[in-house]
Amino acid sequence: MPNNNSPIGIFDSGLGGLTVVRALQELLPNESIVYFGDTGRVPYGSRSPEVIRKYAREDMDFLLSKNVKMVIAACGTVSSVAADIGNTLDVPFLEVVSPAAKYAAEHTKNKKIGVIGTNATIRSGSYEKVIQSISPDITIYKKGCPLFVPIVEEGLVSEDNIIALETAKHYLLPLAEEGIDSLILGCTHFPILKPVISKVLGSDVDLIDIGITTAKATAKYLEENDMLSTQKEGKCEFYVSDRTAGFSAVASRFLGRSIDGEIERISLE
Ligand code: DGL
Repeated sequence: MPNNNSPIGIFDSGLGGLTVVRALQELLPNESIVYFGDTGRVPYGSRSPEVIRKYAREDMDFLLSKNVKMVIAACGTVSSVAADIGNTLDVPFLEVVSPAAKYAAEHTKNKKIGVIGTNATIRSGSYEKVIQSISPDITIYKKGCPLFVPIVEEGLVSEDNIIALETAKHYLLPLAEEGIDSLILGCTHFPILKPVISKVLGSDVDLIDIGITTAKATAKYLEENDMLSTQKEGKCEFYVSDRTAGFSAVASRFLGRSIDGEIERISLE
């Protein structure tokens, strides 16, 4: 049975969920984390809801086998089409859509919010359902940005990378023309591209980082439910379903420390 010092289980199709890991480690450094990146099957966002749900179930089962005290779907796509599966687990389950959507609805000034995500997320309408339940007079401008996912997985993330910049202009300039004051980075891969996105949109658009909003929601949940760790320092274990090398290079850069020796390749079969 998990207890307060058991790890938090976090999963994504690849590197994206590290945006949640990084924000959570900053906020709650004494929590242990087991991370699973399904790098053998990334991307999820171009697949059908049935396939995404099957993958999500397997990812959650893997984390449960690690005796986690909570599961976080650090994936906008899974959160959008398979959150109901998470809600049936024996441990608490958190997803990334609701915290970001609530934050956006509460902070927009001109009531024009942009939402970007994978195609599966955008098709699901998950973010606007939450936003419009809070404030029906908000207008949402949305755009699927699937190419951002391989760009991040390939590590093409610096603010002067020409491929990342041109792709961002292609996807985002039409949203800027609508006059949005906030943009939900609705896929966990996207906050890794924040420097590029902010170069294209300028500093007037509030970029809502779902890594940060999810980490804050997690801290609140653990506190309110008396589930915070009592350890001095948390440990982190990383698992992937394909070669570890590519993941390790970009992940280490993003987390600001080498995680080479901490990654293990596993098979979900
Ligand atoms: N990082 C994921 C998300 O938040 C999935 C990206 C993908 O695999 O397509 O949607």
